[in-house]
Amino acid sequence: MKHYKIAVLAGDGIGPEITQEAIKVLKVIEERNAVTFELMPAAFGACAYFEFGDAFPQSTIDICDKADAILKGPIGLSHEASKNIPIDKQPERGALLPLRRRYNTYANFRPVFLPKALGHFSPLKAEIIGEGIDLMIVRELVGGLYFGSKESGINEQGLRYVKETLEYDELQIRRIMHQAFKLAMKRRKLLHNIHKSNVLKSSVLWNEVMEEVAKEYPGVKVVNYLVDAAATALCLNPTQFDVMVMENMFGDILSDQGGGILGSLGLMPSACLGDDKAYYEPSHGSAPDIAGKNIANPYSMIGSVAMMLENSFGMDREAKNIWAAMQGVFADGYSTADLSKPGSGVTMISTQEFGDKVVEKLKKMPKVDLHD
Ligand code: IPM
Ligand code: MN
Repeated sequence: MKHYKIAVLAGDGIGPEITQEAIKVLKVIEERNAVTFELMPAAFGACAYFEFGDAFPQSTIDICDKADAILKGPIGLSHEASKNIPIDKQPERGALLPLRRRYNTYANFRPVFLPKALGHFSPLKAEIIGEGIDLMIVRELVGGLYFGSKESGINEQGLRYVKETLEYDELQIRRIMHQAFKLAMKRRKLLHNIHKSNVLKSSVLWNEVMEEVAKEYPGVKVVNYLVDAAATALCLNPTQFDVMVMENMFGDILSDQGGGILGSLGLMPSACLGDDKAYYEPSHGSAPDIAGKNIANPYSMIGSVAMMLENSFGMDREAKNIWAAMQGVFADGYSTADLSKPGSGVTMISTQEFGDKVVEKLKKMPKVDLHD
């Protein structure tokens, strides 16, 4: 019997409601396999700030340190409500970036996946979606502008100014490239390298290191794309892509566009992997406007559980079963109000009902005794 400790950071806004559904799925996985999960809930985000004066309090750090993996819900407040928290203590700067830094989770995998049958979720035309969208954005997660030094003040002309630095060293680039090439080897052996080397020196180094690493993976075809052109291509011809690798900020922006071509960020789970620790989170925010209404789809949170099973616990089959169960619920004609408009021909169900239907389907899937 395997035993894993999971830190559960439900977060803000819709976080708690979608986390509850993810926990239901973890319970079913326990029932079906020789595995137990010790769930360790901890406060993280704006809720933690209001309770402890710190969005990533020491008590939560201790729990995450002990955990084999971390399941994290979305965090953050509305633009207006954020003003009640000092800038450096706001959940993004005060909790999420420190979490990434602490566990050095440099490799962020963001699947952009929509089978043909669910093409109606997408704003793209059927002929663009073709046989379906299935690509993976590999985003460097602990370098670049988001982690560079910052200063601001009054300059010599008496004007307010700000300076933020974008820094990468070759080691940071090399390790994310290896992750991307390894993934490409497992998939279509096609890697799109996204950069902006016509302007940024950081991209020149990025590309140099990419070419060095590429020599170790001669079976992988590399296609270089400027990030701005890639944004257009993601709309016009997304099926040309399989694995896309890029630095932190490019990945932040293009992965949200990935959610856009699927029809919703609610369909975007993710895995954030370091060498010693990994955490899993939806790519989207806490959607305060729909929080507490039982209408948020838990797909991104349950998908994050699937990514955890695959990447942290080696339970690939069960991960696939979870994906299939979720796709199955959609294919049966159900959806939640956040994803579908009334009159779109689908039967509208609540957050909880979606979770229940996923569980129902999962229970019917062939049993797999992974750790025997
Ligand atoms: C994401 C989010 C974060 C980021 C924010 C909340 C700091 O947008 O995970 O994409 O920019 O990385
Ligand atoms: Mn983002």
